[in-house]
Amino acid sequence: MAALDRCYNIHDLRAAAKRRLPRGVFEFVDRATEDHIAVHENRSAFEDIKLRHRALVDVSGRSTATTLFGKPAALPLVIAPTGAAGLCWYRGEVQLARAAAKAGVPLTLSTTSMTAMETLTEFGGRLWFQLYVWKRRDLSYEMIERAKRAGYEALIVTVDSAVPGNREYNARNGFALPFNPSPRFMLDVARHPSWTLGVMGRYLANGGMPKHENYPAQFQGTIVSGLAGRREEMNHDSLNWSDIAHFRDIWPGTLMLKGVNRVDDALKAVNYGVDGLIVSNHGGRNMDSAAATLAVLPDIAQAVGDRATVLLDSGIRRGSDIVKALALGAKAVLTGRATLYGTAAGGEAGAAQAIGILKTEMDKTMAYTGCRSVDEISTDIFFGGYERNRLAG
Ligand SMILES: Cc1cc2nc3c(=O)[nH]c(=O)nc-3n(C[C@H](O)[C@H](O)[C@H](O)COP(=O)(O)O)c2cc1C
Repeated sequence: MAALDRCYNIHDLRAAAKRRLPRGVFEFVDRATEDHIAVHENRSAFEDIKLRHRALVDVSGRSTATTLFGKPAALPLVIAPTGAAGLCWYRGEVQLARAAAKAGVPLTLSTTSMTAMETLTEFGGRLWFQLYVWKRRDLSYEMIERAKRAGYEALIVTVDSAVPGNREYNARNGFALPFNPSPRFMLDVARHPSWTLGVMGRYLANGGMPKHENYPAQFQGTIVSGLAGRREEMNHDSLNWSDIAHFRDIWPGTLMLKGVNRVDDALKAVNYGVDGLIVSNHGGRNMDSAAATLAVLPDIAQAVGDRATVLLDSGIRRGSDIVKALALGAKAVLTGRATLYGTAAGGEAGAAQAIGILKTEMDKTMAYTGCRSVDEISTDIFFGGYERNRLAG
């Protein structure tokens, strides 16, 4: 695919996605919230860390492989849950799932995705399911039961989204889900014929507009029609620790919380029997004053020790970012936008390219710093001056 041939890094994939997607869709994927402070904070925390070459180590047999929850992964990377892949490409979640399975990394399917969880089991990869809790808890339990029946390995409960992010640009772009046929958005769509035909056109030609296929049956309106009362039912500001206790009781597989930013919350989660914690600020999309995830990671990783697996996301754009997160205590990272840019730029091939770029960059960083395996990555490779936990409280 010609566009992909000219993409050498995640920034190029982002630029290709920007060209292809209507502005409303691109900004929905790319932007964050309010003044975009958290998104910059996440990036500068990575960029502030400088590394030192280690000379004369035979790194010829090095490997990015790791073990996550007792199973192998080709690199310490997981596809983060995003509801948007199906807007970036026709059946975008299928493209991502194929790419992830072939690359040997787990994929997390979002509650808000547009592909039924059962469909992804065809591709042979590791599958995790992300849950947004419904106001009526029985609806959440139904989804959990469905994920269990479909054989999902892990349940990830997102805990950083008590209320939706304040995303002013969506209103400005006339973009909403369900789609709002505002003149501004329709004009935007008309200016992007390859997306209109290649994504929306293919949905229409193959059975109609996509639905939120993992929502409870009575709330599965299409992305155009929506359904009265759905937004109210999806309100999750009442989610609390007693829910986590119940999820632990009914979910026998790996249970993770996504959006943990405090040591006390992390320790409490361990006491509730949670297996994994994802240090995340939702890619800066919710609370704009959130601290960089890399800044809050070390204290959490240290306090939790080996009682739970600590992962991190928000801001991964280079393979060296993965190495830095591992050095500060993460077992793996999740990537949201990087692989969505790839999907938008070229479907499965673009998603695979994004994963491949991050893997190559990670491998090079390991070679320069003298790390032959992920277990050898530590803060020993850092050049001094990085203030650990500069923002953590
Ligand atoms: C377009 C988009 C949609 C998202 N949807 C969800 C979601 O449905 N559930 C969730 O827990 N996180 C969601 N996230 C957050 C990601 O899972 C992840 O935390 C974030 O993207 C990581 O930051 P990064 O994009 O810089 O890699 C979404 C992120 C994006 C960019």
